Amino acid sequence: MLDDYAARAPEYDLVYAKPERQSDWRAIEAWLPPVLGQGSVLEVACGTGYWTRCFAPHVREVLAFDANPATLALARQRVPQASVQFVQGDAYALPALPTLPTCPFDACFAGFWWSHVPRSRLPGFLRGLHATLRPGARVVFLDNRWVAGSSTPLADTDAEGNTFQCRRLSDGTTHRVLKTFPTPDEVRAQVHGMASDVQLDTWPHDWALAYRVN
Ligand SMILES: C[S@@+](CC[C@H](N)C(=O)[O-])C[C@H]1O[C@@H](n2cnc3c(N)ncnc32)[C@H](O)[C@@H]1O
Repeated sequence: MLDDYAARAPEYDLVYAKPERQSDWRAIEAWLPPVLGQGSVLEVACGTGYWTRCFAPHVREVLAFDANPATLALARQRVPQASVQFVQGDAYALPALPTLPTCPFDACFAGFWWSHVPRSRLPGFLRGLHATLRPGARVVFLDNRWVAGSSTPLADTDAEGNTFQCRRLSDGTTHRVLKTFPTPDEVRAQVHGMASDVQLDTWPHDWALAYRVN
């Protein structure tokens, strides 16, 4: 996946230009800041900072991390404000990160990350993530729904139920990318026993899980 994202970094934001998704993006841009609150935010797998730019003006500080230096470079240009720090880090290594100055955080946001986590790694990832957050911290995961005609077709499925897409880049290379489309019940079940105030919102192309860490 990292090779894929290093190659895709310059064209990653094309997804945000898809005409049929514009109404989702506008609605989510308005929905997200009030849900995250105004404190410190840890952003997981921030990519090019599309969502960082949306909520950063409303919060005290942001530590946004991604494994890929190419997307981080784009994010730093997009969101230059002093209250936002972009660092390289591995989501699977949480709670360890090179810089965790404000840990425990008041909130966490992860956009289009859940669907790239292999099903077997979700519990470990969530445990590590929750260890960086204060009790009661708000967590928001935003991700895609499957929409025929708009979503990239699924190429295959592995033994644990992870689905994969073959994505073709403008340089002609193709990349096999893990991309899951869990049902709402599957998403809720993953945080059962770890979360309260669980809320699942949907838009035509997207879903968001918001909850408070116990
Ligand atoms: C689909 S993109 C989402 C980017 C951004 N959150 C957004 O919504 O626009 C997934 C991101 O996960 C990053 N990534 C992949 N593996 C990672 C890992 N182990 N730890 C942190 N980030 C990772 C990729 O570099 C990529 O930027």
